[in-house]
Amino acid sequence: MSDDSERNDEQPVLRVRGLTTRFFASFGIVHAVSDVSFDVYPGETLGIVGESGSGKSVTAQSILRLVPKPGRIVAGSIKLDGVELLDLEAEEMRRIRGRTLSMVSQNPLTALNPALRIGWQLDEAHRSHSKTGSKKEARVRTKEMLTAVGIADADERANSYPYEYSGGMRQRIVIAMGMMNEPSLMIADEPTTALDVTIQAQVIELMKQLIEEHNMALVLITHNMGVVANMCDRVAVMYAGEIVEEAPIDELFEDPKHPYTWALLRSLPSITEIDTELPTISGSPPDMTDPPSGCRFRARCPFAEAVCEEHPDLDIVGDRRRARCWVTQRGDSFARGDELLIDKGKQS
Ligand SMILES: Nc1ncnc2c1ncn2[C@@H]1O[C@H](COP(=O)(O)OP(=O)(O)OP(=O)(O)O)[C@@H](O)[C@H]1O
Ligand SMILES: [Mg+2]
Repeated sequence: MSDDSERNDEQPVLRVRGLTTRFFASFGIVHAVSDVSFDVYPGETLGIVGESGSGKSVTAQSILRLVPKPGRIVAGSIKLDGVELLDLEAEEMRRIRGRTLSMVSQNPLTALNPALRIGWQLDEAHRSHSKTGSKKEARVRTKEMLTAVGIADADERANSYPYEYSGGMRQRIVIAMGMMNEPSLMIADEPTTALDVTIQAQVIELMKQLIEEHNMALVLITHNMGVVANMCDRVAVMYAGEIVEEAPIDELFEDPKHPYTWALLRSLPSITEIDTELPTISGSPPDMTDPPSGCRFRARCPFAEAVCEEHPDLDIVGDRRRARCWVTQRGDSFARGDELLIDKGKQS
């Protein structure tokens, strides 16, 4: 991707370039994230989808600089509001987390301390980043945020412990905590996966509303194509540690430019339901300690050709669209592929 964005009137909140993260495990080097580049603009929601193990969470952990051992970011650049995060001291990074950059994870219990009243925890999230450190000021903000995420009786509820809330309520509290200091970017990794469907829809609606009100950017990692259709402006599709396609949401659903996306969408019954899980496609994911040479999707791709033995770049294949596929890069579409498949079927 060139550094000249097509939206050069506006600076991205987040600019990731060439991000490469590996785990130096006893059994081998896991190539978890390879040469990942993307931008996120103010007020925009970028979805990241892809099958299990494709590197979505490690991408999020890398941006937050929370990659667990034996993992390490080995190359790349991550700029938040123009600041290179990979150059920051641990202490500076800690200050950015929770202030300009916040995180909502799948399990609200890991984000909340079970032994402390939630009001206290929310106050701390504010105080640790405020200039004055005032308790009074923090409590005002805590109540404001609890009310914003739909928790009535904020005064009273602030004195409760995490276990006194339902799963959906706890996730609302984690979202309140993430919004506490009005970050410019929030990263949400499967924020609704642990919740039942009705509650999922409510939490998604809430996030949508808060994002709009605060013109916040969001990176949303999810297995749920219904959530993607509902919330995202653009989507990056990951496969085996790489972005294989990136497109505005409508265009992705209408005209996928990578065979992996094509295969996913093809087996999808409907994208309107909030609980439409990412389908699994045939074949097994590659061994990430020894990623395939050439196109990483080659072994599972119905359109693979000799040229696919070479590794394709993520290239521009249309207005604001990128795909890592030789076939679409030369201008062919999968309408042709559909016919090819049918022909193959007839022959066998
Ligand atoms: N702590 C770790 N040690 C070794 N390998 C790891 C570790 N964490 C992740 N990995 C590996 O990195 C790769 C990417 O994992 P990641 O968690 O990012 O996948 P994901 O796309 O988030 O999957 P899921 O949809 O299941 O959450 C996988 O091969 C995974 O096994
Ligand atoms: Mg994950």
